[in-house]
Amino acid sequence: MIPIGKLSTLAHAKVNLSLDILSKMDDGYHELKTVMQTVSLADEVTVECISDPDGSPSAKPGTVSVSTGLSYIPNDQRNIAAKAADVFFRHTGISLGGTARIGIQIKKNIPVCAGLGGGSADAACVLRILDKMFETSLGRAALEELGGTVGADVPFCISGGTKLAGGRGEILTDLPPLPKCFVLICKPPFSCSTPELFGRVICSKIRERPDTEGLLKAINAHDIGGIARRMYNVFEDILPKGKSDIESIKGIMIEHGALGAVMTGSGSSVFGIFDNEAYAREAHKALSGTYSECFLAETIG
Ligand code: C5P
Repeated sequence: MIPIGKLSTLAHAKVNLSLDILSKMDDGYHELKTVMQTVSLADEVTVECISDPDGSPSAKPGTVSVSTGLSYIPNDQRNIAAKAADVFFRHTGISLGGTARIGIQIKKNIPVCAGLGGGSADAACVLRILDKMFETSLGRAALEELGGTVGADVPFCISGGTKLAGGRGEILTDLPPLPKCFVLICKPPFSCSTPELFGRVICSKIRERPDTEGLLKAINAHDIGGIARRMYNVFEDILPKGKSDIESIKGIMIEHGALGAVMTGSGSSVFGIFDNEAYAREAHKALSGTYSECFLAETIG
């Protein structure tokens, strides 16, 4: 029985409090050690199981389509959210058959190609929604495993929160939630290509690395100052030339009272941690004059 109807949920962005690259693996991927944190900035994802008995729709029965209203985001199988749906149906053996099809609508609030895991969060939401809609009760571990076949950050996005991630990003350890704080996110007017940036990495030449152990201790001690001081991303040292906005955004955040500021993932977004809301709002105001993609968020436990 195919459940006709729709379900909606939020797909939260993530930031990397630290990001270390340990080695290049045989499959070309890199072994990471990164602490990831879910934040309140979110896309809105709706998954609809649609029946078109009169055969009129432009989308064919049995297919998955994605709409975002943005022309530069693919609406077919190239979209990571559609890939997630395909993986779900293949894994469960559920066939839409008949006249049913899946329509995924995404209202994008998270900047794309920004190191904020927006696409991965959307894909994780699709897996969670389909698991609920089709009453397959796969559970967190199985959803994370399926997510890992879609993208390296998808397993983290299945349950989010604060986690240490190893392997390609799929080996997850839960950490205590951060103390209440404000996360100011600012994306400069350029993007960084993740594969291109990973392609620039020579692990033996990484000179400075995050103090991940110290960061974990600070997280366990609920010490927000200690956490912010230890934020570090090895990608910042291998950025191509002409990305000076990243340093200037960090500088403006620190000038306005951020406890720490760092680039997230493979960029290009920068985020700063504030324990004082007024300072965070001032920094937001200062950056918004120059950068249109600037968001004040909070951590999500
Ligand atoms: O898995 P995802 O599609 O997010 O990864 C994008 C690209 O980033 C991969 O094709 C790979 O080049 C690179 N990557 C990597 N090591 C990781 C994660 C991603 O080299 N742990």
